[in-house]
Amino acid sequence: MPAYAVLGAQWGDEGKGKIVDYLARDAQVVARFAGGNNAGHTVVTDDGKFSFHLIPCGVFWPQALNVIGNGVVVDPDVLLQEIDDLKEKGIDVSDRIVVSERAHLIMPYHVMIDELSEQARGSSKIGTTGKGIGPAYADKAARTGIRAADLLDIEALIPRLEGILEYTNAVITKIYGGEALEFDEVFDKCRGWSERMAKYIGPAEKIVNQALAAGENVLLEGAQGVLLDLDHGTYPFVTSSNPTIGGASVGAGVSPTHIEGITGVFKAYTTRVGSGPLPSELTDQTGETIRELAQEFGTTTGRPRRVGWFDAVAAKYSALINGYTSAVLTRLDVLDGFETVKICTHYVTEDGEVTDDFPGGVAALGKVRPVFEEMTGWDRPTASVRHYEDLPQAARNYVERLEELIGCPVDVISTGPHREETVSVRAMMRVVA
Ligand code: IMP
Repeated sequence: MPAYAVLGAQWGDEGKGKIVDYLARDAQVVARFAGGNNAGHTVVTDDGKFSFHLIPCGVFWPQALNVIGNGVVVDPDVLLQEIDDLKEKGIDVSDRIVVSERAHLIMPYHVMIDELSEQARGSSKIGTTGKGIGPAYADKAARTGIRAADLLDIEALIPRLEGILEYTNAVITKIYGGEALEFDEVFDKCRGWSERMAKYIGPAEKIVNQALAAGENVLLEGAQGVLLDLDHGTYPFVTSSNPTIGGASVGAGVSPTHIEGITGVFKAYTTRVGSGPLPSELTDQTGETIRELAQEFGTTTGRPRRVGWFDAVAAKYSALINGYTSAVLTRLDVLDGFETVKICTHYVTEDGEVTDDFPGGVAALGKVRPVFEEMTGWDRPTASVRHYEDLPQAARNYVERLEELIGCPVDVISTGPHREETVSVRAMMRVVA
């Protein structure tokens, strides 16, 4: 009955895609539980490089069923396109995808409102991905959302959609000065989705729980990162879902008692895309060098990511909220060749207090100054290394210091984008025969 959650432990883009693919070899189900196509997950296999936004990263393993959980917001156009793209590349996932009937849909007006509201925020904009995520979750909470199940009875949707569109058009035109959407246009889109999506929509929660009852391995695939969590992140510069462990349970319909392992995926340094404080940010040449070396540009929006040293204060907080049983460290190879590497171990607050507490207020977080610990870098590359003992001693020291600071063992280290460029320090999952 084990479920294993894989969470982004920082501000997203930690390289979860590669890790989920790596672990999915031993999973019968891979279930995404939060976010939408704001995510960008990259997987490199022998067949090339694949970038997904919505489809779970278990698709390369034929035994794995890929579930889009109730906690995900689904843009059907994106999902259908990803299924088609994979088919074109010789991977047919059409009988290995289930979309929860309870998952909410991203409607065309959600994308419009995302853009219009960001424009209206001016200099205090969040820097969203513009994919309609916030407005879709807002409708979910307001009980005016449309769920995948609604596509299965398209005629019954008409009166609800009429009411929703009347209100939404008033918001678009009267608040934002945008252009109203025609009912027929939106409804025709829903009809088209209904025809193509129906075969994927099902009782995902039941399917996932049946797999657990049968003793199969279920991977709960996170999106975004803990510090973008609606409740626990750097609000309001967050996404609108819960990428934290509670979100895994709610967003896949899995009891917490089934979750045997909770893995936080950490990058060996820090990145953030969009607005909001980033205490260990490097605004100098070192930051630029890491960005270029690591090609830190958003998979979804192409925006340059902000870069900083590893922030252990944030990492400890992330571990506190999620109770990691293990960590994964990605992109260690990016730090190859640096004379020294730094870790932010404390913050100095506006009042001069040295703390390792992560402030709850975004204004306070924006005012802290980082305190760095400096460690010797390594001159022998870690890139492509597959065994822990083959890592240079200085790199091992770095990993071990991070383990100490995060407070849990690092089970897997990623030393390159390809599946094989991975150091397995300890097995993370029980293998089901
Ligand atoms: P939204 O999720 O599009 O509403 O964007 C809200 C914030 O979360 C913005 O700062 C985005 O840049 C950030 N964000 C959303 N998804 C991701 C992701 O997958 N990786 C990194 N940042 C993300």
